[in-house]
Amino acid sequence: MLKSSQFGKDFLWGVAIAAQQNEGAYNIDGRGLSIWDAFSRRQGKIKGGHKPYDACDFYYRYKDDLLLTKALGFNVFRFSIAWSRILPDGTGKVNKEGINFYNKVIDECLKLGLKPFVTLYHWDLPYALEKEGGWTSHRMTRWFTRYATVCAEAFGDRVKDWIILNEPMGFTSLGYMLGKHAPGKTGMSNFLPAIHNAVLCQADGGRVIRDLVPKAYIGTTFSCSEVIPHTDRDLDVQAAKRMDILLNRLFIEPALGRGYPKDDFKFLEKLEIYTKAWKFTDRMRFNFDFIGLQNYFPVTIRHNSIMPIIQASEVKAATRKVPHTAMGWEINGESFYRIIKKFWHYGSVKEIIISENGACFKDEVVDGVVNDTARIAYFEEYLKAMHKAKHEGVNIKGYMAWTLMDNFEWSEGYKARFGLIHVDFETQLRTIKNSGYWFRDFLQK
Ligand code: NOJ
Repeated sequence: MLKSSQFGKDFLWGVAIAAQQNEGAYNIDGRGLSIWDAFSRRQGKIKGGHKPYDACDFYYRYKDDLLLTKALGFNVFRFSIAWSRILPDGTGKVNKEGINFYNKVIDECLKLGLKPFVTLYHWDLPYALEKEGGWTSHRMTRWFTRYATVCAEAFGDRVKDWIILNEPMGFTSLGYMLGKHAPGKTGMSNFLPAIHNAVLCQADGGRVIRDLVPKAYIGTTFSCSEVIPHTDRDLDVQAAKRMDILLNRLFIEPALGRGYPKDDFKFLEKLEIYTKAWKFTDRMRFNFDFIGLQNYFPVTIRHNSIMPIIQASEVKAATRKVPHTAMGWEINGESFYRIIKKFWHYGSVKEIIISENGACFKDEVVDGVVNDTARIAYFEEYLKAMHKAKHEGVNIKGYMAWTLMDNFEWSEGYKARFGLIHVDFETQLRTIKNSGYWFRDFLQK
């Protein structure tokens, strides 16, 4: 049986949450609207018509939730700052009450011996900025730099661990190409500038923190999925290669100074109009202290000529009759191991933190107990895979479980439960799931 001590005594063990998914109090103490507050008002965008307005009420319950984190034995608390709490209009006047709230969260973490790991941007753009074009606007870098500066100056004396962006591929593709996430925009004319502005903000944000926070440990996070061709037919192999570029390479390679991976996917040459003949290559680069990898599942890809541009589509886990979670995401610890190795093979990545990993299942409280054995099995399998990669020399410094408690799962609403703690959204009652107790026991050994 794997023990947490096998990862070394300095290993970071955390839980991760995000402002929009947990805080609630969406219009309290001067907070401005976010794109998710606005998006959730549009018919049919979020399952069950759910709204993120109250979420887990973390804004009022943070003390109890941090105590629970501590009680489960974690030593890191990853959370994000809601931009529109700090700058309700996205730019302009700073909202003191917003600063105050995060000061309290940070101080409480420190009091409990939890390392506060702060994400600057976890998908909740101020709605005021979306009205000005949001991530498609070239002014995004100016807005983001200002926001990062305010955060660094307010919290940098106590917060040393910073994540600049959460999954840029996630919010640019779902929010600006597929329209499934806020702000619900679609098409390449939105996606391409959003990509480029996110790439620039990821590096500019790193520079702001480096300049303003002494001894900062700076990273940014990437979603990643091993891409497996459905068959060894050349068409499927090529389709998988294009998907791999989009899912795994598009955001890290510019950060590492390699520019966009356009040679292997001609379509991406279109980004050239935004980079003015690639003069931006230097500005897209930043020497991150670590990268955060967020992995849940691999994807199996086949050629599909109907799909515009990418000409590829996924063969779902359920169709292939392989184990999967309630999201339909394949459970495959070996692929987690292989994707970690793939990112390590860049050679220029210094340290890796698994900044998210976890699983969604249909949990139920029965007589006060949530017996989520499938989630326990998932963690056992994935932690074993991570240990194998670490044992073989990958410099993995930490692991953060997604997520502390069930929360607002974006367009899936509140029904998709990923937490170690069950939340009854009617009463806000928390019930530690058996996976939470499992983690507590694991972290003691
Ligand atoms: C990635 C995102 O960062 C997080 O917000 C989301 O809830 C999880 N994955 C699960 O989908």
